[in-house]
Amino acid sequence: MGKKWKVAVIGAGAMGKMHVKGWQLAGHEVVSVTDIVPEVAKELADSCGVARIHTDFKEAIAQPDVEIVSSCLPLALHAPVTIFAAEHGKHVFSEKPLAATFEQADAMEAATTKAGVQFGLGFQRNFSRAIWKAKEYIDAGTLGRPLFCYNDSIAEIRPKRVMHDDNGNRGPIMDLGCHYFIMWMTLFGSLPKTVYAQGRVLATDREELAHIKKLAIDTANITVEFESGDVGVFSVSWGMPPKFKMKAYNDRIYGPKGGIEGGLNNNGKKFSLFIEDQPAEEVNVEGYQSLHAKEFEEFTAALDAGKPAPVSYAQGRDVLALTLAIFESIDTGKVVDYKSFYAQFQK
Ligand SMILES: NC(=O)c1ccc[n+]([C@@H]2O[C@H](COP(=O)([O-])OP(=O)(O)OC[C@H]3O[C@@H](n4cnc5c(N)ncnc54)[C@H](O)[C@@H]3O)[C@@H](O)[C@H]2O)c1
Repeated sequence: MGKKWKVAVIGAGAMGKMHVKGWQLAGHEVVSVTDIVPEVAKELADSCGVARIHTDFKEAIAQPDVEIVSSCLPLALHAPVTIFAAEHGKHVFSEKPLAATFEQADAMEAATTKAGVQFGLGFQRNFSRAIWKAKEYIDAGTLGRPLFCYNDSIAEIRPKRVMHDDNGNRGPIMDLGCHYFIMWMTLFGSLPKTVYAQGRVLATDREELAHIKKLAIDTANITVEFESGDVGVFSVSWGMPPKFKMKAYNDRIYGPKGGIEGGLNNNGKKFSLFIEDQPAEEVNVEGYQSLHAKEFEEFTAALDAGKPAPVSYAQGRDVLALTLAIFESIDTGKVVDYKSFYAQFQK
């Protein structure tokens, strides 16, 4: 192992917990946990043996022992935390998605570049070995080309209401879709060409969401054609009734010669491989103990080697452009050309 880095985890919610455990498992030292709610910070710090808590991220980041800021805050805070950390000379590892807008992404990148610090982006699911095993079959031509990849997710309205706020986490297209969009880019080894989507808000007139001024689209069907000729389809809803029992479909990929079915993108451990007329073959892959530990190992290995972060702005921007192109298609009812749409945001 390389250097043992000193990390400040900011935000002690669901992802904060995963980050503290992931950094510790990867052999690094979490020096502080920060949450605006002190009891939340304390509970996580106590349960993981972290000595220091803060309620103000600026105070936490400015501490001289902090070398990496691990940001697990809602989307609207990704930019302010990253910029503040960079101004204080700290490396940043931020939860996905990169940012809500290209203005924010540009400001983040300008700050970390100016400071000469690295920025890592948390697409941990994309380290799933099942994705990379499926990619081996794809690259070997086992399934043939072109490919269709179908992904589905269905859930009752999210307990974290900020997920439904169009000025907050912007619903499942922004918050969850990014895991699938980066997976398609990885599996197909290609970037999007055209984007076509329909979106609706199903969870209207819900008391739990009545305080939100503008509800984000909670339900969508998204079709993305890639430069490679392959196609990704994502159907998603976060607008279903409480305790809704219907389950999502498995991830499926198929081409002219064969197909793959199974949970690919969240540390999936096995999938079924179908080749021509052969019965399904179960392909087992070893899952990681923690995908977060894995992404932190990759990030710190790059820091140790003086190399750029392996997953960073480039991937975050490609995914953000696709996310915004999906919103554009939903708004206009038109097919969006990814490259020309993206061009307006490129420097
Ligand atoms: N990689 C993944 O699989 C994955 C999964 C879920 C969420 N996320 C991302 O992680 C981020 C956080 O999501 P979460 O699910 O952990 O949310 P969460 O609501 O569980 O946790 C966020 C925490 O931040 C705290 N907080 C809010 N404002 C703060 C401030 N100004 N200063 C300090 N603390 C503050 C809240 O009190 C809360 O405890 C989001 O960007 C989300 O998209 C990633």
